[in-house]
Amino acid sequence: MPPLSDLSQDALEGLRARLREDYAALKGRGLKLDMTRGKPSPEQLDLAEAMLALPGNRDTTAEDGTDARNYGNLQGLPETRALFAPVLGAPADQVVIANNSSLALMHDVLVYALLKGVPGGKGPWSKEEPIAFLCPVPGYDRHFTLCEGFGIRMIPVEMMGEGPDMDAVEAAVADPAVKGIWCVPQYSNPSGETYSAETVRRLAAMKTAAPDFRLLWDNAYVVHHLTDTRPALPNILDACTDAGNPDRAIVFASTSKVTIAGAGLAMLASSPGNVRWYLAQAGRRSIGPDKLNQLRHVRFLRDAAGIAAHMERHRALIGPKFEAVEAAFSARLDGHGVARWSRPLGGYFVTLDVAEGTAGQVVALAKEAGIALTPAGATHPYGRDPHDRTLRIAPTFPTLDDVRAAAEGVALCTLLAACEARLAG
Ligand SMILES: Cc1ncc(COP(=O)(O)O)c(C=O)c1O
Repeated sequence: MPPLSDLSQDALEGLRARLREDYAALKGRGLKLDMTRGKPSPEQLDLAEAMLALPGNRDTTAEDGTDARNYGNLQGLPETRALFAPVLGAPADQVVIANNSSLALMHDVLVYALLKGVPGGKGPWSKEEPIAFLCPVPGYDRHFTLCEGFGIRMIPVEMMGEGPDMDAVEAAVADPAVKGIWCVPQYSNPSGETYSAETVRRLAAMKTAAPDFRLLWDNAYVVHHLTDTRPALPNILDACTDAGNPDRAIVFASTSKVTIAGAGLAMLASSPGNVRWYLAQAGRRSIGPDKLNQLRHVRFLRDAAGIAAHMERHRALIGPKFEAVEAAFSARLDGHGVARWSRPLGGYFVTLDVAEGTAGQVVALAKEAGIALTPAGATHPYGRDPHDRTLRIAPTFPTLDDVRAAAEGVALCTLLAACEARLAG
C-alpha cells in the first residue's frame, strides 16, 4: 500500500469507502473491550496464588528473630531488603520495603519534600517560589496527576528513544525552581524505551541550579522483560555518587506486577542520607509495614533466580498479547505512513503515534465500536498532547482473543481517522 500522502483524491475516497464498510462491520460485532489500564490479567495474578498460603501460622519469625506479626521494623525485614537490594541496585541497608503501591511512596516523598524539605535543601519546597518538575513525554499519567494535585508546575520534555531530550533537561535545570524530574528508566511507560548509559550519566552529573534537585527514578518495570534482550541500564545511585551528587536519585519499584497488584510490596532505595530522611518522616506516619507480606514474598520468590523464573511465567502469558498488537498494527497500517508504534522489549505498554491531530478522533471511533482506550492526551501533563497524536495501548489485561480484536479495531480506526483528516484537509 502506498502512503496516504501519495494517493489521489479518488483513491483516497475509495479507500475511505472501504474503511467505512469495515468500520460498520466492526461496530456490528458489538464488542466490549477495555485496553485502558496496564493491569495484570487474572491468569498473571494466579501465578502468585501459592504465595497467599505463606508464611503459615507457626512460621512468622524473620531471620533476625522479629515476630513478623507485631509492630515495628519501619525499614522492612532484613531478608526482604536483601532480596530486593539487587533489583534496586543498592545495598540492603539503603533499601526501604513498604506496603503495596510505589505510587504511594512517590506521593509521600513529594509531600515530605513540600512540607519539610529534603537533605541539601533550604527548607520546605512549598515555602519557596512555585516549583516545577520536568515531565518526559509521553509519560505516566499518575506522575502528572501527583504534580497537578500539589500545584507543581510541569514542564514537558520529549522522550527521544534513549530517554528524555538531555539538552532540554540540562537547559531547564538552570532554573532553581526546577526541583526534579520523573524518570521511568527501563521499558518506560508508555514508550517502552530504556535510558542509555549517556542519558543516565548526564542526569547524574548535570549541574542543577536547585541544590536539592531530585531524580524520581521510578523503575516500575525493572524485571519485566518481554524478550531475551536485556537492557544494560546503568546503576543510577552509583552514577550519582560518582558524579558527586549522592543524594540526587530516589529509586522506586514494587511487586505490583510481579506478585499481586493490590497486595504486593513497594520499595525505595537511595543514599544513606535520603533513607534516614525518609524514615524520619515515615516514622511519624506509621509504626511499621505489613511484615507478614514481606515474609510471604521472601519465601515465595526466594532469590534473584526465583524472581527471574517467576517473571518468565508472566512473559509466557503476556508476550503473545504484545505480538498480537504488533501483528494487527502492521497488517493494517504498514506502508501507509500514518502511524508509528513501539515494539517494546519489556514493560506493559505499546505507544501508538497516529496521524497528527487525530488521536482524539481515534479514541472516539474506537469507543463507538466498543473499544475503550486511554483518553488522548493522558500521556502528557494536564492531559494536553500538543500534537493530538499519542495513544497508550495496554494489552496485558484482556484475553488474547480480545487483544487481537481490539488491536485490529484500533488499527482500523487509526487509518480511517487519518484518511478522513487527509480528505478534510
Ligand atoms: C511507571 C509506573 N509507576 C508506578 C506504577 C504503579 O505502581 P504501584 O502499583 O507500585 O503503585 C505504574 C503502574 O502502572 C507505572 O506504570
